[in-house]
Amino acid sequence: MPIMPWSDMLSVGVASIDEQHQILVGILNELADSLQAGIDDWDESVALTKLVDYTESHFAFEEGLMRRVGYPGVDAHEQEHRLLFQQVAELMTRSTAGERVGTQALLVFLRDWLTTHIMGTDRALGLSLNRMGMR
Ligand SMILES: [Fe+2]
Repeated sequence: MPIMPWSDMLSVGVASIDEQHQILVGILNELADSLQAGIDDWDESVALTKLVDYTESHFAFEEGLMRRVGYPGVDAHEQEHRLLFQQVAELMTRSTAGERVGTQALLVFLRDWLTTHIMGTDRALGLSLNRMGMR
């Protein structure tokens, strides 16, 4: 059972965003699998680097889209994206400083953040894009 199974509840009603979210969730599940299999420490994990890189490009996509259509919630939405990176960077710093930050804690944090963000902030964006005729 993946740590974050995809379900239609996670759909925001815009195909391009949904596709990227599915890839993102897939990489998170991959990360959970590799960590549970004990393949690598999360602070030097290949899957974590992949997740961070993909998240960065996905956020850039959403932010570019919001700016292009003049979405009024763009600043608050971008702020949430920035905050996630700060929190992940903080976890990484604590881990490299020798503190034992459990892999389970990291995975649960990422899953919960992603679920809350997609079902709240991204869904609001999706509804707004739908009203502009975007599917
Ligand atoms: Fe977002």
